Amino acid sequence: MHGHPQVLEGNEVTGDSAAGNLALKARWSDLQAHDARQVSRFEVDMLSIRWRTVLFAFVVTLALAPSKISTQQVESVRSQEGMVSSQQWIASQVGADVLSSGGNAVDAAIATGFALAVTHPTAGNIGGGGFMVIRFPNGQSTAIDFREKAPLASDAKMWLDENGEYSSDIHHRSHKAVGVPGTVAGFDKAHRLYGAAAWADLVQPAIDLAGEGFELSESLAGSIERFASRSPYEATVSVFSKGGTPYQIGESWSQPDLARSLERIRDDRRDGFYQGETADLIAAEMRRGEGLITLEDLARYQARERATIQGTYRGYDIISMPPPSSGGVAIVTMLNILEAYDLPGMGHNSAEYIHHLAEAMRRAYRDRAQFLADADFSDVPVQRLTSKKHATWLRRNIDSERASVSHPTDIEMAPESPETTHYSVVDANGMAVSVTYTLESGYGSGIVVPGAGFLLNNEMGDFNAGPGLTNESGLIGTAANLARPQQRMLSSMSPSIVARDGALVAVIGSPGGRTIINTTLQLILNMVEFGMSIPEAVAAPRIHHQWLPDRIRVESNGISAQVQSQLEQMGHIVQVGGRQGSANSIGIDLTTGERIGAPDPRSPDSGARGN
Ligand code: DON
Repeated sequence: MHGHPQVLEGNEVTGDSAAGNLALKARWSDLQAHDARQVSRFEVDMLSIRWRTVLFAFVVTLALAPSKISTQQVESVRSQEGMVSSQQWIASQVGADVLSSGGNAVDAAIATGFALAVTHPTAGNIGGGGFMVIRFPNGQSTAIDFREKAPLASDAKMWLDENGEYSSDIHHRSHKAVGVPGTVAGFDKAHRLYGAAAWADLVQPAIDLAGEGFELSESLAGSIERFASRSPYEATVSVFSKGGTPYQIGESWSQPDLARSLERIRDDRRDGFYQGETADLIAAEMRRGEGLITLEDLARYQARERATIQGTYRGYDIISMPPPSSGGVAIVTMLNILEAYDLPGMGHNSAEYIHHLAEAMRRAYRDRAQFLADADFSDVPVQRLTSKKHATWLRRNIDSERASVSHPTDIEMAPESPETTHYSVVDANGMAVSVTYTLESGYGSGIVVPGAGFLLNNEMGDFNAGPGLTNESGLIGTAANLARPQQRMLSSMSPSIVARDGALVAVIGSPGGRTIINTTLQLILNMVEFGMSIPEAVAAPRIHHQWLPDRIRVESNGISAQVQSQLEQMGHIVQVGGRQGSANSIGIDLTTGERIGAPDPRSPDSGARGN
């Protein structure tokens, strides 16, 4: 990177007091509804799609199609009414059933979230946290922050071992890595503010799935076998295997302890998790494993309603998640930078296109490392970072033919794992809900709470390593995102919604650690700049650059050898391989009003269900 960002001035911290949110404290049913299906200005002109786009989508579909899917095919689905698109098709069906019985999109999102905690245990959870972005039929929006918090006994040096050395194991793989869970409080808050259905009806399907069991797909059977076989925790092995013997593909898997935990949530809402038996079981496991979470931490946890991040891109409105996510800010920064270029003229995933994306990403991720954290604890200059003026400043030193260089001065970032989950919901009235939630790593900390049957997160790993602990090997020690009592750790999760001229266009997002932000950016560009339908936008190969390490990552089969060589000649380091994200999205066909559920073909169990 050449140069440094402008000197900071002021800040625009988001919070519950934001005026836009106060207007939304009324229940959804009190808000003026209008049918998004009648406002159809986003015309998908299939003829305008470049042949290259179609070819890429075809190649990706072939390359990413799993060799054998035991329960279903991942395909897009259309409905005139509501739609749920998630990483696990049974959970999507649960959400669609809630829509069929009169629930709104928030209700369906809550029911889908509880169901994913049973059927998608790598990331679905009640022991983790996440974000929900809601767009109402009248165009207003709000966000529910149920990110985990640092326990009261946390401090910035808590990842040091007895010799005073930083320990990645303590940071990411210990009871101290567990943040105070937020999911149940978040769903409770979303339901109290904007739900319409009875709470018990949203939890009961998950109870039934946990209690009665469901058939294991090939993908899930393999995943839980690998997980259980290396777990040191008795309660974990007991839930994820039959006393050490793996479950088979097609076998029914039930989780009776989880069913009872969910029953307590059904009966006592958030108190059924943060107090009473479940809280006692969590606190006991923390004492046993020298973790920090106490009954007081649990009782004090509160989800927060926050003002959404809003940006514009070529006439489209971009609605996304504010801090403690870095996602919304970074997406809007990158779109603002890219708005000045003729991206369709460059061609989708051409060397010129990828170069400009990478340069925008490099700059937005440097801002992220420098400025983003929980805005309740430090000043995050949200309005400045998302302004068109700031983008002009960042764009000034982008050379259209040469890669910039990222300087690892004093800021770098720690590794992240690729397990989280994103799902999207739209109801018949056009209410849209975008949810990304996580345990952080696949299966989180790997710790099942004995007697409670659910996994705890290892989200504390998203805090920085320790004061001054920035080094070449990837640690970061800058101040804003150090662990402090009650602070929320910085996230990349970017549940987002796209609208235009008052009409809903798409509900999008993805898992993937820091790649989430770039996956979501490319979904927007694929639709807006390249006229792709939502399934094409989801399937198209993705790229990633995060400032440091200074390299472009491209999915397998994402670019030709020639494009790779052109990028290298420009000065980029290019790595090709792997998959990026699982962007279970919904688009609106604005010519017909249909909701198009687009599960991500990268995830074999994903599925969309309409009602
Ligand atoms: O909040 C975050 O940004 C990370 N804990 C998310 C982890 C993640 O996406 C892993 N996913 N696939």
